[in-house]
Amino acid sequence: MEIKVFQTKEQIGAAAGKIIADIVKNDPAAKLGLATGASPVPTYRYLIGQYEAGEISFRGVSAYNLDEYCDLPRDDENSYYTFMRRNLFDHIDIDPANTHIPDGNAADTDAECRRYDALIDSIGGVDVQILGIGTDGHIGFNEPGDSFAPGTFRIKLHESTIESNSIYFKDGKMPRYALTMGIGTIMSAKKIILIATGAAKAKAVKAMIEGEVSPACQASILQTHPDVTVFLDEAAAELLTSEK
Ligand code: PGA
Repeated sequence: MEIKVFQTKEQIGAAAGKIIADIVKNDPAAKLGLATGASPVPTYRYLIGQYEAGEISFRGVSAYNLDEYCDLPRDDENSYYTFMRRNLFDHIDIDPANTHIPDGNAADTDAECRRYDALIDSIGGVDVQILGIGTDGHIGFNEPGDSFAPGTFRIKLHESTIESNSIYFKDGKMPRYALTMGIGTIMSAKKIILIATGAAKAKAVKAMIEGEVSPACQASILQTHPDVTVFLDEAAAELLTSEK
């Protein structure tokens, strides 16, 4: 794992964004694995800026998101479908038909998970996957547990995740379940960029980088991936032994 520590979220957004912009410049049909949450937003802002400046086009790019809430209407302001439109897709020239997010409202959840895995298998895994990390070490919505999930599945969200994300649900009605790529799906990405900022992430970041590889910290599996770059601010890096 390569660890990079920056002063500001904007610097992280520019550095992570440049990696993605270069991938898109080299391959106009690049396959991007995308994430929601606050962490990737400055990266998306950088990419929108590059598009507006005429530096890159997403016309041939396809996008595959990590996860989506269950039992939340697709057009709800808190769905990840809406999040991606508001924070990226509506501001660039990507073809909406090439943007993929698991359907958290599918009548047959198992079939939807199999469909999503088959879609990602069919492209041989994404070229680059952006990740945040939960305070409990989750990536996607892979919550701490006894094993690493191979493929996309339905998960019951843990209390710490509900606590972190319920700030966005003003009516207090935060979904309790989500569909998420499994760890196996995430690990099939050729390259991984993980972004974490703020002191609340410091323990999870330490467990991910310096802890044993264990499903108790799902992000720790990234130690075994050949191409992971972790972008941190100083607060998120503060518990790392090597950064002292
Ligand atoms: P955040 O979420 O980027 O909003 O902090 C990350 C996550 O829970 O995976």
